[in-house]
Amino acid sequence: MGVLPKANDACWCGSGKKFKRCHKNATDPIRPGRISPLRPVPDTIAKPTWADGGDVERWDEPRVKSPEIIERMRRTGREAADVLAYLGTLCQPGVTTEEIDAACHQAAIDRNSYPSPLEYPGMVDPFPKSVCSSVNEVICHGIPDDRALVDGDIINLDVTLFKEGVHGDTNATFFVGQVDDISRKLVNVTRECLELGIAAARPGRPINEIGRAIQTHAEDFGFGVVRDFVGHGIGEQFHTDLQICHYYHPRQTDIIEPGMTFTIEPMITAGSYRINLWDDGWTATTADRSRTAQFEHTILITDDAPEILTTPSDTSSHPYWSLAATV
Ligand code: MF3
Ligand code: CO
Ligand code: CO
Repeated sequence: MGVLPKANDACWCGSGKKFKRCHKNATDPIRPGRISPLRPVPDTIAKPTWADGGDVERWDEPRVKSPEIIERMRRTGREAADVLAYLGTLCQPGVTTEEIDAACHQAAIDRNSYPSPLEYPGMVDPFPKSVCSSVNEVICHGIPDDRALVDGDIINLDVTLFKEGVHGDTNATFFVGQVDDISRKLVNVTRECLELGIAAARPGRPINEIGRAIQTHAEDFGFGVVRDFVGHGIGEQFHTDLQICHYYHPRQTDIIEPGMTFTIEPMITAGSYRINLWDDGWTATTADRSRTAQFEHTILITDDAPEILTTPSDTSSHPYWSLAATV
């Protein structure tokens, strides 16, 4: 884990100015807020093993999925994407992340789905909410709380649904009102990183080609690639043993095969890629409090371009979806 730059250090943004005269107080740091009580999920909804205080069950799940599982993953993936697209419309100044979580929770239930993050076991406590909401310098796994979004924020929402016995996992970073140029660039480059990572996921190639494509693009803009969180195999389990680094990892040489399903979910930073983990065991921020963005899709490897399983039904609601649909 890294440390916050000293006041007289050069700012991470490359301006050449001292940190204290540049981005130190550009936005108020994100701090732990008030977290509301656990929301129940009706008994009519099929739940993963960790619901109601259970453990994550792990087994040797085939990396190459059957056509029958793939059909289920297509349906669940689309449901997750539809929820994410809807939540994106809520990202306006004055709206709390708690309100976005409540909307996610209800949307999941309305779709006969379990919101997979809810009660997912962690290093300290289980995740207490139905969506991860990560604002500004929060890299991932932010816990929805009573903080209201502010004009100029960027917010990542990470939605995973469990339905028909499979998970669909997808996230996107949204602008709140008018956002500064560095943040805009960061978010757009991160989206391109995901698209390039997906384009590199062709059968016969080693897995590490994905990270190579992502890292090359991010570093072309002077941005950092987070190392501490990776993409993952997904299916009947939320996270399988298959790991997808978003930087070039020389030993990730397993060959990509048709029928594999996994996520690609690059976390890109405007400054240092080093992380600081809060005492809650979940919230990860950049060590230098530089802003960070993320996009995620669940994909299926085919004989040619991957099939994106987390494209929403209506791709017109946000520019991101129409782009993602054409990769
Ligand atoms: N959706 C996240 C991922 O992309 C995982 C969130 S785990 C949680 O893998 F418990 F924080 F929800
Ligand atoms: Co994921
Ligand atoms: Co996710």
